[in-house]
Amino acid sequence: PPGAHVPALVIGTGYGGSVAALRLAQAGVDVHMLEMGMAWDTPGSDGKIFANTRTPDYRSYWLRTKTKQPLSNFLGFPLDKDVPKYTGILDAEDFSGITVYQGRGVGGGSLVNGGMAVTPPRPRFSAILPSVNVDEMYNTYYPRANAGLGVTNVDQAWWNSVDCYQYARVGRKHAERSNFPFVFVSNVYDWEYMRQEVAGTVPKSAVDGELLYGNNHGKKTLQKTYLAQAKATGRVAISPLHRVTSVAPANGRYAVVVEQLDTSGNVTATKTVTADKVFFAAGSIGTSKLLTKLKATNVLPGLNSEIGKGWGDNGNVMCGRANHLWDPTGAVQASIPTAGIDNWDAGGAFAEVAPLPTGIETWASFYLSITKNPNRAQFTWNSTANRVDLSWQTAWKQPSIDMAKSIFDKINAKEGTIYRTDLFGVYKIWGDHLTYHPLGGAVLNKATDNYGRLHGYSGLYVIDGALIPGNTAVNPFVTITALAERNIERIIAADF
Ligand code: FDA
Repeated sequence: PPGAHVPALVIGTGYGGSVAALRLAQAGVDVHMLEMGMAWDTPGSDGKIFANTRTPDYRSYWLRTKTKQPLSNFLGFPLDKDVPKYTGILDAEDFSGITVYQGRGVGGGSLVNGGMAVTPPRPRFSAILPSVNVDEMYNTYYPRANAGLGVTNVDQAWWNSVDCYQYARVGRKHAERSNFPFVFVSNVYDWEYMRQEVAGTVPKSAVDGELLYGNNHGKKTLQKTYLAQAKATGRVAISPLHRVTSVAPANGRYAVVVEQLDTSGNVTATKTVTADKVFFAAGSIGTSKLLTKLKATNVLPGLNSEIGKGWGDNGNVMCGRANHLWDPTGAVQASIPTAGIDNWDAGGAFAEVAPLPTGIETWASFYLSITKNPNRAQFTWNSTANRVDLSWQTAWKQPSIDMAKSIFDKINAKEGTIYRTDLFGVYKIWGDHLTYHPLGGAVLNKATDNYGRLHGYSGLYVIDGALIPGNTAVNPFVTITALAERNIERIIAADF
């Protein structure tokens, strides 16, 4: 309620926020979480909570009147369609040089992501977070994060036998014939559930293409893991459709201004609550936008000059390859990725073998590459337009394209195949306009101390992907979770 006071307030309910809430509550601290997106706990008129990837509807996009599908075209035809403006689950947030996809709702990115739960190979860690003790991360915090998230491996014998992973086996064959290391990656999907989907004994979910707009059954989102445990403590309250707009010092506490939204995105109430401690967990973009604005508008003038800096796209770039007619990838493709091609050390790219769950044979192999792109952008306050801008330029993706080509040019040469040119427009090979993996903007040991305490203000913390300086060498959420586990342990011991 307006005027209320809480000991700990968490902005956002993604990975960082969920870890903070659970561990604080277990330590006996009452926590209130504010989330701008919906609760995603109530079925729509079709009896399902989430829409299918093939049939986006009002639930699918955050306050857009037209879908903005990451794969915008097929055989040259645009796929996007009009939808009612609604506080939907996937935000395609446009900056001048890049569209950043993010989950909106209780559970953050875990609602929409592929569930690929990858601990980076240990030799790569010191380049990811140079100020963090490697032994502690690999002995304690990565294992804790993997356990908390429910990470498991697919049974390879089963994987080898099912139609829905034919696309991934084609991916393996092509990788191995070009002598690239093909690696299985862990996931948070419930593999027993997927077995039953294949057997036809339960409602189909991943095998029916559910993913990008939510998964109705088998994926262990944060709603089923950290947040379920947090709620079970009885100490965590969550307010969905509440967007934080300001955090200001007030008599030794912080006054937090919150807008309540309706499902069309209108502000129906503006409230102020106070908190002793505030955790910024609004994601790399959400946290960076808030801090950049609050510093520039003199609400938090004591934040240091590292705020808004060090943002990267995890080197994301997408592409498709056209296979021969005798090399089909399958009409039914499980939406949960299981493997990647690891050419990081030799060529700077780790390529996820991704599904194209269209429901028809496409003769395409599709990949999301994570690359060692060195470019970093900065957030700045635009007082004329009253918004935060990001300095990323589309041309900055060229290093990512070159690194991805270190894999796919070689595979195409070996297989006698070509790139698909119909998936991102008309005659466009590279999906270089977007990222799924925003990282940085309030970097650890720069904008904050080495545990996420913001410089300039005691009791303000960053605990999400904003801490990580732009790249994790693999998919990021396990690293975000493990870093949050590390930081909150220290913060609880020293600050509470
Ligand atoms: P996260 O974005 O999860 O949570 C932030 C929350 O804060 C959101 O719920 C947001 O609505 C809320 N918020 C923002 N501003 C707010 C405000 N002002 N007030 C209140 N609430 C606010 N990663 C991976 O490791 N494996 C994978 O397979 C994939 N796949 C993938 C697919 C797709 C389509 C996407 C979009 C992303 C992925 N990712 C991924 C990335 C992964 O989901 C992402 O890195 C994490 O969700 C980031 O976690 P955070 O805790 O930083 O923020």
